[in-house]
Amino acid sequence: MTTPDTHVIVVFGAAGDLAKVKLLPAFHRLWSDGLMPKRWRIVGTGRTERSDDDFRELAREAIEKPIGRLGDWERFAKHLTYTPTEFSPGHTDALSTAVADARRELGDNASTLVYLSTPPSTYHAIADGLVESGLVGDGRVVFEKPFGRDRADAASLAHCLRRGLGEEQVLLIDHFLGKEAVHDLLAVRFANGLLEPVWNRHHVDHMQIDVLEAGDVGARGAFFEETGTLRDMLATHLLHVLGFAAMDPPASLSAGDITTEVEKVFASILPIQPNDLVRGQYEGYRNTDGVAADSDVETYVAARVEIRNQRWHGVPFVLRTGKALSAKQSSVTVVFKTPPRGMFPGDAADARLDPNRLTVDLDRPGCLSLGLMTKAAGWDMSLQASTLSFTGDTNTGVGVGAYERLLHDALVGDHSLFTSIEAIDRAWQIVEPVLDDPPELNRYERGGPGPTAADRLIAPHTWAISANDRRR
Ligand code: BG6
Repeated sequence: MTTPDTHVIVVFGAAGDLAKVKLLPAFHRLWSDGLMPKRWRIVGTGRTERSDDDFRELAREAIEKPIGRLGDWERFAKHLTYTPTEFSPGHTDALSTAVADARRELGDNASTLVYLSTPPSTYHAIADGLVESGLVGDGRVVFEKPFGRDRADAASLAHCLRRGLGEEQVLLIDHFLGKEAVHDLLAVRFANGLLEPVWNRHHVDHMQIDVLEAGDVGARGAFFEETGTLRDMLATHLLHVLGFAAMDPPASLSAGDITTEVEKVFASILPIQPNDLVRGQYEGYRNTDGVAADSDVETYVAARVEIRNQRWHGVPFVLRTGKALSAKQSSVTVVFKTPPRGMFPGDAADARLDPNRLTVDLDRPGCLSLGLMTKAAGWDMSLQASTLSFTGDTNTGVGVGAYERLLHDALVGDHSLFTSIEAIDRAWQIVEPVLDDPPELNRYERGGPGPTAADRLIAPHTWAISANDRRR
């Protein structure tokens, strides 16, 4: 693994939920694994006044929570500082000075990596401030998703960035692209003679992509009010997983070749129409801090998506994601066409019953299951559904977290797993009809399977993964 060069890392929203849950633990893990630069500094920033020590304490709690042990905490903590700022054009001095001081201390060849871990409504002011102050120098800026609020907003952000930064300096992150299990999709699809030839409209009846979450919006009410699940999950993570599940074989695994294939899939996805989308909101969402009492923001979406190309013409893709459901489960399920079963007695002749299903688990790389029909033991020739499960070698704990992988890539300047402005523009175009004319909101029970209104999107089939299938 390449060791990154000396870096000053500036994190906007350093005390926010994303920084606490994902970024700070990922930096700590990279450091424990010897994958941070030899000399580095994190300058955390945000609007709230807090001292370096307050920030270190917040980081300690955030990092200790998931791993339970901290190693030599003092040695890690001395890399963390905090500068409060209302960063925007005309108000860039405090942060610019803190970064300049850190660069001087580390050595003047230090690069800058800026991470925007703030809601999209702050991006314009921060981007303008970065361009005005020149704080990034020849370093890089990472934008969390969603990049903007819609197509026009993303285009104007891109325009603003181009005034001061080169294309290769801007990294648009979608952490699902860093998930090992998403890459596993490429291995499963393209490295197996059994599956590669059947991954198309001739053999596949439909595909389901699920990212079901048991957790609710928690402390992120204000963020959620301006994004909602459509922007937070569907226009970003789920479309990217769809890109991997549906792409043609890339010429190589290089950044350019994978991006080309994902962009080709996106270009063939028809914009989602209001009738093909179901929105839901869990009961109690409106009582969350930062949420309006009459909020119309969705915490659940299910969508039926069509890809109009040679490989997938006529095959529905049904995408579903939501919070406060009964189970956490993320997967891609390919449902194959069923051969005529007239020779078998009774219900088994019905092609809708137990088609072969291949499920790739997106939370546990290497874990797949394949549903097959076999003969039930006994005198009769009756069929039974059997499942082959593969658990891979994922319990060894050697997996690499998505944020660790992507932060390391950002530090060494590897663009392979970052998304392109073109793909984002197309993703916004795909959801434009439903952003402009959102269908009605269905309330759903917290801890349940989600709104039953979504069932019509999968009919005449049923969900392969039921939100009632509790895995953890
Ligand atoms: C984030 C979304 O990008 O992804 C969250 O903002 C969501 O709302 C999260 O919960 C899911 O990611 P993971 O890796 O925890 O499954």
